[in-house]
Amino acid sequence: MKTILSGVQPSGTQHLGNYFGAMRQNIALSNDPNYEAYIFLADMHALTTVKDPAMLKKMSTDLMLDYLALGLDPEKTTFFQQSAVSAHTELAWILACLTPHGLLERAHSWKDALAKGVKDTTAGLFTYPVLMTADILLYKPDLVPVGKDQKQHLEIARDIAMKFNNQYGETFPLPEEYTPKEVAVVPGTDGQKMSKSYGNTIEFFAPENVLKKQVMGIVTDSTPVEDPKDPEKCNVFQIFKLFLDENEQKELADRYKNGGLGYGDAKKMLLERILDYFGPYRKKRVELEGNLDYINSVINSGNEKANQRALKTLEEVKKAVGLI
Ligand code: ADP
Ligand code: TRP
Repeated sequence: MKTILSGVQPSGTQHLGNYFGAMRQNIALSNDPNYEAYIFLADMHALTTVKDPAMLKKMSTDLMLDYLALGLDPEKTTFFQQSAVSAHTELAWILACLTPHGLLERAHSWKDALAKGVKDTTAGLFTYPVLMTADILLYKPDLVPVGKDQKQHLEIARDIAMKFNNQYGETFPLPEEYTPKEVAVVPGTDGQKMSKSYGNTIEFFAPENVLKKQVMGIVTDSTPVEDPKDPEKCNVFQIFKLFLDENEQKELADRYKNGGLGYGDAKKMLLERILDYFGPYRKKRVELEGNLDYINSVINSGNEKANQRALKTLEEVKKAVGLI
């Protein structure tokens, strides 16, 4: 059986980009009987940017609720919290002692932070890819599902694993990335990539009035209702597509091209579709919110399982490097 592992950062309310770009695939893979899956909340990684304790706590709980409401099955997946498995930071230190400074200087995430003039850059932000490498190598996964933005981090993980194997003997299999073809970049309400940092998101678990405002706020041009419209140039259509099969896409595209469909009506139809699609998950999430004991018990048992697995690798590593 193949092992997959993925980390998700608790960093705010989840949006359609997160769902179609990452969460949906993670959940499908973790429920696939052909894989043994580890999915964890990368809360140690979140510490690089989130400095408000109450906020970090809330975002972590929210992300647990989101994943469980969306159908992650904790019986089949080891769903855990990075900070509860201290082997992650221990291995990260051991790996840091092998990681060339230059390798981290070349990381896009670091270069972007410098280019954006982020003040108070920290050693944590700089060594972020080393912790991510430790996250991965501890579980020796065959596949790591990641979005495009994380590909370079996976290359770094392979580089560090190779360095370790060369120095101390074959210990880590090299992790392969897994990026499903169907995963595209989801556009936001203004047509740029949907992202929390651009304020152009559609948050599928938000209260209905907020969700409505986000959908009705999708930017469109001023073509009159009766005129033909180009679906490829319409932000509403580009988001709607995510919910439609091929026939439905063609039908809607024809309505655009024939004229007579106003953007306001298209938005209302999209809102209905989003509420339909996420309806059962929204309901489940409300139920789970009322049962935080259950959430805690799921995470505690995931933490225990992850600890057992991680400690095995850590012991192997400590022996290899001469610590025990
Ligand atoms: P944000 O840009 O809103 O801060 P994150 O960087 O936290 O989102 O992304 C979390 C995950 O969701 C990553 O795996 C990322 O690849 C995926 N993701 C985020 N936005 C999109 C998008 N617009 N299209 C596709 N995938 C996305
Ligand atoms: N850096 C990843 C992100 O921001 C999250 C992450 C942390 C991760 N550790 C990981 C993803 C290990 C895959 C494997 O999305």
